Order: sequence, then structure tokens, then C-alpha cells
Amino acid sequence: MRAHIRWTGRGCLELLDQRLLPSEIVFKECRSASEVASAIRDMVVRGAPAIGVSAAYGMALAARAASVSCANRRDFRRQMTSEAEVLASARPTAVNLRWAVDRLLRLATDLAKNGADPEDVAASVEEEAVQIHRDDVSACKAIGKIGAAFVPKKASILTHCNAGALATGGFGTALGVVRAAREAGKNPRVFADETRPFMQGARLTAWELQEDDIPVTVICESAAASLLASGKIDLVVVGADRIASNGDTANKIGTYPLAVLAHRHGVPFYVAAPLSTFDPELRDGSGIPIEMRSSQEILKWGDRVLVPAGVEALNPAFDVTPHELITALFTEAGAVKPVDAGTVGDLLARLRP
Ligand code: MRU
Repeated sequence: MRAHIRWTGRGCLELLDQRLLPSEIVFKECRSASEVASAIRDMVVRGAPAIGVSAAYGMALAARAASVSCANRRDFRRQMTSEAEVLASARPTAVNLRWAVDRLLRLATDLAKNGADPEDVAASVEEEAVQIHRDDVSACKAIGKIGAAFVPKKASILTHCNAGALATGGFGTALGVVRAAREAGKNPRVFADETRPFMQGARLTAWELQEDDIPVTVICESAAASLLASGKIDLVVVGADRIASNGDTANKIGTYPLAVLAHRHGVPFYVAAPLSTFDPELRDGSGIPIEMRSSQEILKWGDRVLVPAGVEALNPAFDVTPHELITALFTEAGAVKPVDAGTVGDLLARLRP
């Protein structure tokens, strides 16, 4: 699939506007950290790893601007800290966002504290942002390979939302597993939940799989139960926005009921995510902040009013799937199976410096 996050290297980040897919292919130009934050908040770009990568470039834009406008290193550090907060708070659930911003803020402030010239700091932040982007694509490819081993030769795979190339730096997590399975000579076919309320499955998953010639069928998410009951689905694989230390996983609203259904029908339920999606600070999923989005996303479709005036709507963007419903986690460091505080703790401890 074509690149959807493009760093021009000339003070501009170009983001494929995912709100317009599949009907229009338009790139939105962001020239400042606050423009990147708005693009994340308004879901021009979405998906946990993709917003982390975009925010990293937002930090590169912030560093470039601060290196020109700040009179001294102290002002530079102060401005970087404030821009970092604007970026990191654009959306609350995906931990990748704060992970990327914190990594670059630490780099910038350490270099500035040690006397580096702001222009050199800006160059280093830019280099690191590019590295975060590259690393994310490599992580997705590794996740794909690890997950593909769990995919039968001719598999029908159900997925929710979009955890594909569009939701990452490229290649995808859940859809990375599908792509890697195909690269390994298997024949995966995908059933994509349309995913209310923003239709990421119908608009984005279907679009990118079609671009790659991978057979895809869109279903209403309420059709998942009977499809699973029919025995036609071999496995479910989804992405994640934040995984607590015991494996409890936040992902797009509707993931938890899908996991319950998969469990009811004895179908394996897998979560594919890079290590940047793990939150070692959280013991379990109860501490994961769940983003509440505008009720307008439910009350209206574009300009068309769907719900009688005066009726309220509730719009949580994510839910938390308890770890006991997850058959395995696929990460770039390997598969975790079974999923519990012990196995996830071992994974995180192995990676700690
Ligand atoms: O609200 P969104 O579209 O940003 O939600 C995205 C998801 O829930 C994805 O499944 C998740 O971020 C994983 S992306 C690899």
C-alpha cells in the first residue's frame, strides 16, 4: 500500500486524510505541532501506532520552530515541553502517542541541557522521528510473521476497526498478520466489521485490503455473532490502543463484545500490537483512560440527522477486553500465550534495559 504518512523534510508533514477515504485521496499538510495535534484529534490520521508516528513528526516540527524562535536554551526547553503536551493530549487512549512524544521530549531536553545548539537538537529530533517511523514498520512486519504462524492455510479471518497500514507507520498489525500470511503462501480471506460509529472497517480496512488484492467482505458488527456461530470463521485478530501489564487490552469500541462472542463459539481471539502499545505502569485495564467522543458522530452522518432532536447519544471510542478472553498477543518480540500478568510481565521484564 502507498505511504500515508509522508515527511517531506522541508518543515511539512503530509497525512492522507482518512476521513475522506475511500472516495477521495487527499493529503493534508501540517506545518506545526498544533496542526499535527488537530489532525490527530479530528482523525485525519488515526490508529494507535500511526498517531504515535505522526506525533513524533509533530515534535520534529516543534523543535524546528523553537530552534528559530527561542532566544536561549531554557526558552527552547520550555516551548518544547508545552508543544509536547499539546500533542500528547490530542487523544487519551492510545499510549503510543505519549510514548513517542515523551521519547522525543527527553531527547530534546537532554541535548539542550548538555549545551547542544537548538538547530542541532532540531536535526536530532527529526532523525529520531524518522527512526520511530521506520521502527514501527519493521515492528509490524515482525508481528505479521509471528502472527502468520497461527493462521491456517486457507483461513477466514474476522477483524474489527482498522489495524492496517493506515493505522500504523505501514503494513499494519492485525492486517500485517493477514499480509504476512499471504506472503507465506496462505490464502486468507477477511471479514471486516464495519465498525460504528466512524466506519473504519467499512471505509479503511476494505479499502486497503482491496488495494492489495486480498479478498474482503464487510459485515455489520451485529452480524459477527451469527457468522461466528456458523463455524465459518477460523480466527479473530484485532489491534490495540493500550495493553495493561496483565494483558487487558483497550481497542476500538465493539472489540470486547467480539471477544465474548469468539469465546462463546470457541474461535481463537488474537491481539496484534507493537511493544509501544504496552503500558507497564498499569496493573490492569481498569486504569486505561477511555476517550469519549462527540455525540454528534452518532447523532448525525455527515450533514444528515439520524436521531430525533433532543435525544442524547453516548460515544465511548474504546472498550477493554479482559486478558482471559485473549488467546494470544502477537508482538515484534514474540507471541504471548496464554495472556496473563505472569506472561506479559515476563515479556516486559525481558525488554527492560
Ligand atoms: O479511533 P481509532 O480509529 O483511532 O481506533 C483505532 C483502533 O481501535 C485500532 O484497532 C488500534 O488503534 C490499533 S491500530 C494498529
